[in-house]
Amino acid sequence: MRKAFLVAFFGGLALGFWPSVGGANKKVPTFSKEVVRIFQQNCQACHHPGYIAPFSLMTYEEAKPYARAIKEAVLDGRMPPWKAAQGCGDFYDARILSAADKQTIVDWVDAGAPEGDPRDLPEPIEFPGGWMLGEPQVELKSPEAFRVPPTGNDIYRCFRVSEPFTEDRYVTAAEILPDKAAVTHHVLLFIDSRGDSVALDERDEGPGYNCFGGPGFVPNGGLGGWAPGNFPRFAPEGIATKVPKGARVVMQVHYHPNGTEQLDQTRVGLHFSDKPVNSNLSYLPIFNFTFQLQPGNKNQKVTASLILPFDIKVIGVTPHMHLLGKQMKIEARLPNGKRQCLVNVPKWDFRWQGTYVYKEPVKLPMGTLIKLTAFYDNSAENPNQPNHPPKVVRWGEQTTDEMCLAFLSYVRDDRSLTASQQEEERRLLSPVIKMGGVNLVDQVRLKLQSALYSTSPVEMYNFSSGFSRAELLKMPWKELFGESPKPSCH
Ligand code: HEC
Repeated sequence: MRKAFLVAFFGGLALGFWPSVGGANKKVPTFSKEVVRIFQQNCQACHHPGYIAPFSLMTYEEAKPYARAIKEAVLDGRMPPWKAAQGCGDFYDARILSAADKQTIVDWVDAGAPEGDPRDLPEPIEFPGGWMLGEPQVELKSPEAFRVPPTGNDIYRCFRVSEPFTEDRYVTAAEILPDKAAVTHHVLLFIDSRGDSVALDERDEGPGYNCFGGPGFVPNGGLGGWAPGNFPRFAPEGIATKVPKGARVVMQVHYHPNGTEQLDQTRVGLHFSDKPVNSNLSYLPIFNFTFQLQPGNKNQKVTASLILPFDIKVIGVTPHMHLLGKQMKIEARLPNGKRQCLVNVPKWDFRWQGTYVYKEPVKLPMGTLIKLTAFYDNSAENPNQPNHPPKVVRWGEQTTDEMCLAFLSYVRDDRSLTASQQEEERRLLSPVIKMGGVNLVDQVRLKLQSALYSTSPVEMYNFSSGFSRAELLKMPWKELFGESPKPSCH
């Protein structure tokens, strides 16, 4: 009623104008002019046909039915999803709507979501073949789709997605396009230099093979991965990951059945540098796997820390927890006492875990203390609580277990490292890791090796490359862990 009155009051208002609450005239935004431009910038990367969002926001016809839901999701900050707090780290692709853009969307919806003049439409953004980084040089996928049953435990399935490479290649980006994102928890890419995955695949029926934990062999590194909300990105200039001649790419997909059967054939697009690249991207995990989350505790703190044994330039950071995680913050204290906040996720959301990539790589000198602080809610009131009633929860691979882990992806200066320098790097890294206040200086290498077995992190593969199975079996497992390892796919 009031709006109708105001329109009458302003008399000769031209079509397309609407009085705002303050009484000043304001143009009603239209889809074709203002709104689609906001969608292009902030929404279409996910909301395009075939990608992870449940509907497309590419055209007016597609967007109109969701106008109300869009207003709500935007106002309460659910969309676009972006979990890192502002003021801690300056990241690429920060999906944060400005107050002005929010208002434009609200005004548009309140005015009945008008289309406007299609001649105002901008050039459409295209997603050729669904790829965000454009057509890749090589597309990989398993030869057959994998059937994910409607119910049951989580499945870790590994697929040999490539033939052996015929020459050394330097990968600048690996874009993963999950086929059935609704049942895909994460995807990881491993490099298999010795062809171990062939026998593993042959022993297991159906496409690929089961590979709980790691990929079932000692990989020679990885090409990154995918989790919901994780956008692909080219490595900064001069950085790439080498896939040596003769090596294969193995893709691990962690499926989480969702009630309906799904046939999945996830694709990987590789982009290469046309010249050899020296500076290798490495990953540094900061983690605590000795915690025990007590049932009923709404706010249990778990910490981990690490002192850098050499200078690094941090490219990105990937915080990781499961369903009980509440918040995670990672900070650095430089040797000169200066503090630097690396990332802060004040409201952890299991569904939106991304890698946060710094616009400007963060230089951290040797001796920097990196500290991770996480909080968990293991109470019955936690809506994400998977256990009824709550129980003690420890580190583990199942979605219903927990993790307390973050990765820093980094490069060391701009110089290249020889094999013996890399070995030295590995040696330096191991003895300084402290976990949850427990000093595991001597044991940590062994602990990390146990990562290849049963209940430790898949993502530790970076550490594993220096150890053979024969070496692993020589370890004093019983003394260290109280039991012998039960390798699940070795
Ligand atoms: C990073 C990917 C991504 C971006 C960017 C994104 N969305 Fe979404 N959106 C999703 C996914 C996935 C879902 C379904 C799962 C969910 O509801 O969390 C969704 C659901 C929605 C829903 C319905 C559910 C709800 O929460 O109300 C609306 C409305 C929506 N998005 C609007 C938008 C708008 C508007 C933008 C841009 C301003 C946007 N989204 C940006 C991925 C994205």
